[in-house]
Amino acid sequence: MNILVVGGAGYIGSVCAELLLNEGHQIAILDNLSEGHRAAVDQRARFVEGDLADRDGIAQTVARLRPDAVMHFAGSALVAESMRDPSKYFRNNIANGLNLLDAMVAADVRQIVFSSSCATFGLPERTPIDETFPQLPINPYGESKLAFEKILRWYDRIHGVRFISLRYFNAAGASEKFGEDHRCETHLIPNVLKVALGRQPHVEIFGTDYDTPDGTCIRDYIHILDLACAHILGLGTSASASYNLGTGGGSSVRQVIDSCRKVTGKKIPVIERSRRSGDPPRLVATSEKIKRELGWRPQFQALDTIVSSAWKWHQRFPNGYGD
Ligand code: UFG
Repeated sequence: MNILVVGGAGYIGSVCAELLLNEGHQIAILDNLSEGHRAAVDQRARFVEGDLADRDGIAQTVARLRPDAVMHFAGSALVAESMRDPSKYFRNNIANGLNLLDAMVAADVRQIVFSSSCATFGLPERTPIDETFPQLPINPYGESKLAFEKILRWYDRIHGVRFISLRYFNAAGASEKFGEDHRCETHLIPNVLKVALGRQPHVEIFGTDYDTPDGTCIRDYIHILDLACAHILGLGTSASASYNLGTGGGSSVRQVIDSCRKVTGKKIPVIERSRRSGDPPRLVATSEKIKRELGWRPQFQALDTIVSSAWKWHQRFPNGYGD
């Protein structure tokens, strides 16, 4: 297939583009490089530097490329930032996304795989979270992802744009080529590995008084390669659907740090801090629906396997993409 990967120079988009190329698909990557990196663009892909805010530009790009499908990874994804600057989130994740959808409709492109988030569920009453749980976001980031999920339903109904919304839990790990390098790094695993690399003196634990077995937050870490495979399965579907993507297992912050100690053989000093605002204590998915309906089979579920892949990448690229 001809696929346009929007946001394909970012962490998750770059690995998905790599897998699509490995499977023989033709890929064009559109990215404005605000969060993405030129060095994360797979050399086998065609690269278009462009911004979804540029409504005419994106319309021209989609009309020129006429892809069979679009994968949409572009967006802003920091919860704390969304609490300070909601406008950025509603603009980037909703208004700019609409420019993409309208360009698709105009060019008769009727298939999209969309990066949604577990943040659309807010504070779930229990776990694991399945697709029937109420979606009640507690921050503008989650709200913006939920709004776009709803917009997709209307574009399907009115314009026949088939969608797959994938609600990621905590994407982690790396492929051989591409890994996690955010300009503003807030995520746990890369922050812990920076300490292992000697680039930071210690890692901070945000909150040790949660109602969890060791007092720290529990998250469902999913290997980026398993996440990428789900996108490829999403391309083959004939009906629109939304799926939660996790492993069904949860790891606490302390367990992640212990896994990093084990994998790296480094001491990794910690400092215990107070809670980070907006962190739900426990977010764990059940992904039975995508397993049942699309035959998704995650292969790299063990936390140590995920951390090992990230460690390999960070050792190889200690300065990330260096831009
Ligand atoms: N944490 C630390 N120290 C750090 C970084 C994180 O203790 O240096 C803790 C956080 O407080 C949280 C856990 O580690 O309890 C995981 O934090 P991350 O920032 O790695 O991930 P989040 O669960 O906050 O974020 C993920 C996705 C977001 C998404 C969000 C939904 O990365 O894109 O889940 O809640 F929006």
